[in-house]
Amino acid sequence: MKHRIEILGKGHDRSAFDCGVPELDAYLRTQAGQDARRFAAAPYVLCEQGQTRVIGYYTLSTMSIDLVELPQTLATRLPRYPVIPAILIGRLALDRRFHGQGLGEHLLLDALHRCARQAHVVAAAAVVVEAMHDKAAHFYRHYDFTPFPDSPRRLFIPMQTIIKLFPKPNQ
Ligand SMILES: CC(C)(COP(=O)(O)OP(=O)(O)OC[C@H]1O[C@@H](n2cnc3c(N)ncnc32)[C@H](O)[C@@H]1OP(=O)(O)O)[C@@H](O)C(=O)NCCC(=O)NCCS
Repeated sequence: MKHRIEILGKGHDRSAFDCGVPELDAYLRTQAGQDARRFAAAPYVLCEQGQTRVIGYYTLSTMSIDLVELPQTLATRLPRYPVIPAILIGRLALDRRFHGQGLGEHLLLDALHRCARQAHVVAAAAVVVEAMHDKAAHFYRHYDFTPFPDSPRRLFIPMQTIIKLFPKPNQ
């Protein structure tokens, strides 16, 4: 089955989305559209080809990180400013009917690829994720995200690491 990922629009059906985390389901159904209209977050949705039903989504927005919050080993790989620009993957979820088939990875890599392309236009030195629970944090650690020392469900990956995954971004 082929899939597509695109910005959330009026034609997408979000009513049946069920990822197993009620807050993430409710966000997609009731808040994501408003966040998009107000430029608070950009929601991207995953659908099967030819379908309008949303089976996965993630959100992107900008943020900043205090350099002192990061582990020393990572901080040394970043610019020496007190605050550095970053992109936040605020939410990422897949309908539970589709778990365990590689689509979570597909969503995450699409988000990271989009961040890499964007960083060539508006700089961001890192991508941060907010994991809703410990299991989600493990998912991100599987992809080499590093937890913030004081906040293990907030994780971080340098843009330089991401760029190596996507060496020739399409502009
Ligand atoms: C987290 C989530 C997106 C994973 O999606 P998925 O489609 O089941 O995961 P995939 O099948 O793509 O798995 C990709 C890889 O991640 C690993 N993985 C999946 N969930 C994992 C977890 N909780 N901990 C560690 N690794 C995990 C898989 O083993 C697989 O690795 P492999 O290719 O080396 O075997 C999905 O379970 C989900 O939406 N959960 C509910 C919402 C949620 O918790 N979101 C997290 C952000 S708040």
